[in-house]
Amino acid sequence: GLIRHYKFSVVMKNVTKLCASKPIATVNGKFPGPTLYAREDDTVLVRVVNHVSYNVTIHWHGVRQLRTGWSDGPAFITQCPIQPGQSYIYNFTLTGQRGTLLWHAHITWLRSTLHGAIVILPKRGVPYPFPKPYKEKTIIFGEWWKADTELVLSQSVQSGMPPNKSDSHTINGYPGPLPNCSSQGYELQVESGKTYLLRIVNAAVNDELFFKIAGHNLTVVEVDASYTKPFSIDTIFIAPGQTTNALLAADKSGGSYIMAISPFMDTVVAVDNLTATGIVQYKGTIASAPTVQASIPAINATSFEFSFINSLRSLNSKQYPAKVPLTVDHSLFITMSAGVNPCSTCVNGKKLVAALNNVSFVMPSTDILEAHYYKIKGVYTDDFPGNPPTPFNYTGTPPSNMQTTNGTRVYKLAYNSTVQVVLQGTSIIAPENHPTHLHGFNFFGIGKGLGNFDPNKDPKNFNLVDPVERNTIGVPTAGWTAIRFRADNPGVWFLHCHLEVHTTWGLKMVFIVEDGDGPNESLLPPPADLPKC
Ligand code: C2O
Repeated sequence: GLIRHYKFSVVMKNVTKLCASKPIATVNGKFPGPTLYAREDDTVLVRVVNHVSYNVTIHWHGVRQLRTGWSDGPAFITQCPIQPGQSYIYNFTLTGQRGTLLWHAHITWLRSTLHGAIVILPKRGVPYPFPKPYKEKTIIFGEWWKADTELVLSQSVQSGMPPNKSDSHTINGYPGPLPNCSSQGYELQVESGKTYLLRIVNAAVNDELFFKIAGHNLTVVEVDASYTKPFSIDTIFIAPGQTTNALLAADKSGGSYIMAISPFMDTVVAVDNLTATGIVQYKGTIASAPTVQASIPAINATSFEFSFINSLRSLNSKQYPAKVPLTVDHSLFITMSAGVNPCSTCVNGKKLVAALNNVSFVMPSTDILEAHYYKIKGVYTDDFPGNPPTPFNYTGTPPSNMQTTNGTRVYKLAYNSTVQVVLQGTSIIAPENHPTHLHGFNFFGIGKGLGNFDPNKDPKNFNLVDPVERNTIGVPTAGWTAIRFRADNPGVWFLHCHLEVHTTWGLKMVFIVEDGDGPNESLLPPPADLPKC
């Protein structure tokens, strides 16, 4: 492949939305940020220069970073942050990957404004496994607060209470005319009779979303940069961190059609029913737009969300086979729950936390990858529990003690071992859907269900033939999801809920994959410009 150079200058920029202005951190002054284009097998060098007063890192969400964990980006997991006035070159190769992904800041809540799409085209001369679209369009969903999101975060951490909800959602940066004090919406121009490939990215901070274009079906062909068996549907479900490629056939003779995004939350903790809209405009015609509110799924449309996810299958063709591990070396069962811990400085003397197998992850002050590579003691312990410390009826009446333990605990995996993780949602405090992201891998979503996972019965129904392959997967409210992957990437890999509020509360853990013995089976040495803590 080619070598592609990018420069990302992180700079403040004043932006006005919903009649309020605020300075936000941007890449190159853009919101959403620039799209990074490359082809499969290209090497990408992105020089990130930090011109703002915050510490910054950038994560290339879904890029596998084979042996290059130093370029993965999560702060204090694989690197120390890039301090104000400093720079760092992320250097990675897109080995065997093509499709749509996203990049975003991976420290505090800076990803609310520091994000953009990654478009990886197939190798030159290699066609898509679906009809060639006339044009391609990138559509990024975001979430906008009138207040500074770093302030929203710190207020919530200080009080121990949930953070303030966002003031609107955005489509390519625009809330559209529905919220107060907003008019312009994103406009997608199409020509009648042509087919478009929409590269859809959910870069929202805390909200899973439904997406619909009035009067048109969409044909899903790829999720998280893995081809799927094509299927046609009128609404797309997409969680933060996920990407979906879909074909839009502009099969009307003309007119304008509303496109809309609206949140999905099946346990409505705080009503957040903010619809953002844009327009699909047929070139050369004018028409009045039909309303879409009547037909976008309701905020608690769990059955629609389920049926959408059940329609996803990996393409599993001769050229793009699904390489599902058929045996399991490490089998983990992990509960995802909220909790309440004492906090002397908080309102009411307690704070909300979240935990995996009752461990609330504590961020270290030296990154775990350097601690692993240089064998620095005292940064982490390798005793993350592979099973709940005290089993309970996960989706029944919650236990009375909701305190969690704190720790920087990792789980070690031998190189090339196969791993199965069953993620079990629980009903502690508020059962919620958790879109869970694993760095460094694509995994297969081999099963899911409601209630408690049954280790004797449920594995019989696992799909080991053509399960969806992705990097971020929903764990249903009061239900479970099972994933499998092969630990063929040595390094330190973060697993966390991609709802930023839950990550903040501690819903995260780390896998360390040891080096193998072969010549290309070890983590590469750190680059010379790796930031210092
Ligand atoms: Cu897109 Cu660790 O995140």
